[in-house]
Amino acid sequence: MTAKVRVLPSGHEFTVEPGESLLDGALRAGLSIHYNCNSGSCGDCRARRLSGELGETRHHDFVLSERERADGYFLLCRATAVSDLVLEVAEARSVADVPQQQLSTQVSKLVRLNDDVMEVQVRTPRSKTLWFLAGQHVRLGIAGLAPRNKSIASCPCNGMVLQFHVRRVANDPFSEHVFSKLKLRDTVEIEGPFGDFVLDETAERPIIFIAFETGFAPIKSLIEHAISLDIAQPIWLYWVARQAQDHYLANYCRAWHDALDAFEFIEISGEEADTMTAAEVAMVRAAARICADHPDLRGFDVYVNGPDTLFAEISAALLAQGLPPERLFIDRVQRF
Ligand code: FES
Repeated sequence: MTAKVRVLPSGHEFTVEPGESLLDGALRAGLSIHYNCNSGSCGDCRARRLSGELGETRHHDFVLSERERADGYFLLCRATAVSDLVLEVAEARSVADVPQQQLSTQVSKLVRLNDDVMEVQVRTPRSKTLWFLAGQHVRLGIAGLAPRNKSIASCPCNGMVLQFHVRRVANDPFSEHVFSKLKLRDTVEIEGPFGDFVLDETAERPIIFIAFETGFAPIKSLIEHAISLDIAQPIWLYWVARQAQDHYLANYCRAWHDALDAFEFIEISGEEADTMTAAEVAMVRAAARICADHPDLRGFDVYVNGPDTLFAEISAALLAQGLPPERLFIDRVQRF
């Protein structure tokens, strides 16, 4: 029987399938819970049962004291639901709740997404995860190179496998290393997370995401998180790029369109012109398209990720369409 779980104090709800751990159910539903080992050893996922009946996926709760067990504490990663439950769980409600962490990870996958963009996937050590909120970035450290800020492209529902999108940039030692020397099992140090480019989960306003090229990475994480939360409001994604091929995961976005009731994906690209760069042309087109699609933005939230210089014009256009300044969320992570 599928069990319903209510979480206090947030009021979040999620379901758990028979035999599924409460931790897996909670992460699948987009709850931001601290955990590490996923095996009953670290104690980080401790929670408290307020009502309902728990079952064990595997007995391993030695990390809890007798006193804690008597008070109703248990481990989310080692327990499942036998009936509907009400639990007390500590969740991150803002970036201030998530501590800075340092992890030594290993490259687990390298995928050329197009000629100039590499997906770098790293894996944390066994019994360690990175706790972060969708949209945040970390500092990547590779031996011999200056550290680099990169947004996390994957969903916080899996803190053990992290993805990054690295663009090849001429004369940039970091990107040259990623494209020509980085290999599987190389060590990548991670410090973070940083930044407050995160979803306002309390808002129920329609959402517009605007990404410029690899600025898509944190937007991907945000949209995957929004899907986990099963949010009801409509979403538009405008992916702006110099060339059509820079929409390097367009098929992935089209799959979101097929899977979600209210999701629109719009690709916008520029082209070389005498007086403007392709990026500038793309931005002018994007501003015109968004304003035509949404003549009144007073009720919207807009999340923007890309270079400040290019987004100045688009931001001005959005505000002129009535978007309240406090509902314009801009990621200012320095990528290069
Ligand atoms: S005890 Fe480590 S994650 Fe549950």
